[in-house]
Amino acid sequence: MQRTFAAIKPDAFAAGYQGKIIAAIQESGLKIVAMKTLHLSERQAKGFYHVHSERPFFGDLVTFMTEGPIVALVLEGDGAIKRWRDLMGPTNAKEAPKDTMRGQFGTNIERNATHGSDADDTAAFEIGYFFSGLEIA
Ligand code: RTP
Ligand code: MG
Repeated sequence: MQRTFAAIKPDAFAAGYQGKIIAAIQESGLKIVAMKTLHLSERQAKGFYHVHSERPFFGDLVTFMTEGPIVALVLEGDGAIKRWRDLMGPTNAKEAPKDTMRGQFGTNIERNATHGSDADDTAAFEIGYFFSGLEIA
């Protein structure tokens, strides 16, 4: 069993797509073992995306991720990291197939509805950043 960190970003949250995204996760067979809503501060968003701190889009990304609440989730299942990345679709929502989360609920390369860990080490960091062991079923 593998765990991954997922988030419903502020654009999808504000548009009310939480239920549809959570339903798609469950229909895919991935198990939700932790979930909460929170509104990231600037410092918290910078810490979450620290790997991108030198990228030109970092400032815009932090502004976006702090503009409203998000849903943070831990998903569990065989190959959960890749399965959730596949269900999300590519980073650029404009290029994402319509059966993916970003294709359905995202707008462009930045406002792309969902986040997913990209590897074992980032999944471990991101799960621990948002949840204590006591909060994971
Ligand atoms: P994520 O980490 O959110 O799951 O997205 P990702 O792996 O598909 O993409 P990544 O390269 O990690 O980028 C993180 C987030 O930064 C925003 N972004 N903006 N303006 C741009 O060129 C640009 N590129 C990336 C997106 O919100 C992306 O999901
Ligand atoms: Mg990423």
